[in-house]
Amino acid sequence: MSTPLVEARGIVKRYGPTTALADGRLTVLPGESHALVGRNGAGKSTLVTLLTGLQAPDEGTVRFDGEPAPPLADRDAWRRKVACVYQRPTVVPELTVAENLFINRQPLQRRFISWRRLKAEAADLLAAWDVHVDPEARTADLKVEDRQMVEIARALSFGARFIVLDEPTAQLDNREIERLFSRMRALQKSGVTFLFISHHLQEVYEVCQTVTVLRDARWITTAPVADLPRAGLVEAMAGESIAEQAGHVREVDVSAPVLLDVRGLTSQSYEDVDLTVRRGEVVGLAGSSASGKIELAESLTGLHKPSGGTARLDGQRLPFGDVQATLKAGVGCVPRDRHTQGLVIGMTIGDNATMSVLDRLGRFGFVGTDRKRGFATELIERLDIHAEGPDQPVSDLSGGNAQKVVMARALASDPRLLVLINPTAGVDVKSKESLLARVDTARDDGTAVLVVSDELDDLRRCDRVLVLFHGRVVAEHPAGWRDHELIASIEGVDHG
Ligand SMILES: Nc1ncnc2c1ncn2[C@@H]1O[C@H](COP(=O)(O)OP(=O)(O)OP(=O)(O)O)[C@@H](O)[C@H]1O
Ligand SMILES: [Mg+2]
Repeated sequence: MSTPLVEARGIVKRYGPTTALADGRLTVLPGESHALVGRNGAGKSTLVTLLTGLQAPDEGTVRFDGEPAPPLADRDAWRRKVACVYQRPTVVPELTVAENLFINRQPLQRRFISWRRLKAEAADLLAAWDVHVDPEARTADLKVEDRQMVEIARALSFGARFIVLDEPTAQLDNREIERLFSRMRALQKSGVTFLFISHHLQEVYEVCQTVTVLRDARWITTAPVADLPRAGLVEAMAGESIAEQAGHVREVDVSAPVLLDVRGLTSQSYEDVDLTVRRGEVVGLAGSSASGKIELAESLTGLHKPSGGTARLDGQRLPFGDVQATLKAGVGCVPRDRHTQGLVIGMTIGDNATMSVLDRLGRFGFVGTDRKRGFATELIERLDIHAEGPDQPVSDLSGGNAQKVVMARALASDPRLLVLINPTAGVDVKSKESLLARVDTARDDGTAVLVVSDELDDLRRCDRVLVLFHGRVVAEHPAGWRDHELIASIEGVDHG
C-alpha cells in the first residue's frame, strides 16, 4: 500500500464545553477522491480546519506523505500542501480574477506590480488547468462554479495537490454540478487528490472511490464506496437504520381559498409571472440558477423589487422592497444565503430564533428572558438542532444546524405565507426529514408555502411544481412527477 497522502489519527478537538471531535481519523490515499460524510455537527468541517492548518488539534496527529504537518505559523508550507474550497468565497470579490490568483505575490518589475505580467501569468495558470475564466473579470461577477475553479487553480499554483471541497455543490444547479464533477475527474487524472464533503449521498457515489463516515465526533468507518450501499451508508451516519420516506402524494383541497395571488409580476430576472398558492398548499418553484426563481421568491419576501405586477396575500397588497413590512404582513422566509441574509452572527441561537416574534412574546417591547429561553429551547428541540443550548452564539454552529435556526425563526413568526429558498441546503439526510415534516405541520395549520429548491427531494413533497425557464413559467407538474420529467422541463428540453 502506498504512503497515505494525508493521515489524521486520534484527533480530539474541543470548543469550551463542546467536543467537536473525540476520535477523528482519516486516511486519504494519493490520487483518490475521498468522501467525508456525517450528520450535521458530526465534526466534518472541524476536521477540515485541522487538515488545512487553521487550527491545531488538542490531541492527535496530522501527517502529509508520512511527514508531520508543518507548524501552524508556517502558512506557506501549508499552502503548498492543501487548500479548501468552501461554499463561501475565500477570494476577494472586489479584485479581478488575476489579482486574486496572485494576491500578495504579484510579479514585480522594479518594485512596481507589473499588471501586464500579472494578467499573462494568470491567463497561463488558468489555461494550464483548463479553467475558462477571463482573468480580468471582477471576481464578484463570477458564477459560483467559476469562482470555485479559480480558487482551485490558485491552490494548485501554490503546489498543493490535495484539495478539500466542503459542500461545494450546495449552491449549484444540476448542470453546474455535472460540470464541477467532470472538472474534478479531469484534475484527478492529472494527479490531484480530493476530500469531498456533501450531504447529497448520490454525489458521493458519483465522484468518490472511498468514503469515511463520522458520527457524534467519532470515526465510524472507512470503506470503498462500492462496498457501502446507500442504506448502509445512512445507517453508519445515523447509528440506526432509517426508512427513507418516498414522495407521498396528498390531496389538495381545491376549494381552499387562494392566499397568495401573484399577477403579471415582472422584473429584470422574470417576466409576467402569474402564481397562486392556496391555504395549506405547498407549491414548488424549480428552474436552473439563471431561471429567475430565486429573484421571484425574494420579491415576495421584500428582498427584491419587481418593476411591475402585483402580489396579494389574503387580499392585501404585499409591500415590495421592504423586508420588515413584508414580515409584518405575514410572510416568513428562509433566505437563500444564511450567512449574509439569514442570521445575526454575533447573537445567540435563542435571540436569532425568536427575533421575528419579539412582538408577540412580550408586550410593550419587553420580553422576559425566561419566556424567550423557553420558547427557543422548544424550537431547538423541535428542529433537532445540535447545540449546547439557546445561549450559544450561532457562529459556533455547524452549517446545517445554522440552517435549522433560520428555519426555526421563519416558523416562529407563524406566517400566513412561508417562502423557503433552498431550505435543506447543507442539512443532513435525517434532519431533512424533520425539517420537511415541520413544513407539513405548517401547511396543515393553513399556511401557504412556496418552496424554491434545486433538490428534487424538497420538490417531491410539493402539491405541484412550477418550472421557470428564462424568467417565464413554462410548466406545471402536479405531485407524482417522475424525476426525468421535471429535469427535462428545468433544462428546457420539453418545451419550445
Ligand atoms: N468555533 C466553534 N465554537 C464552538 N463550537 C464549535 C465551533 N465550531 C464547531 N463547533 C461545534 O463542533 C461540532 C462540530 O461542528 P462541525 O462544523 O465540524 O460539523 P459538520 O460535521 O461540519 O456539520 P454540518 O454538516 O452541519 O456542516 C458542532 O457541535 C459545532 O457546534
Ligand atoms: Mg460543515
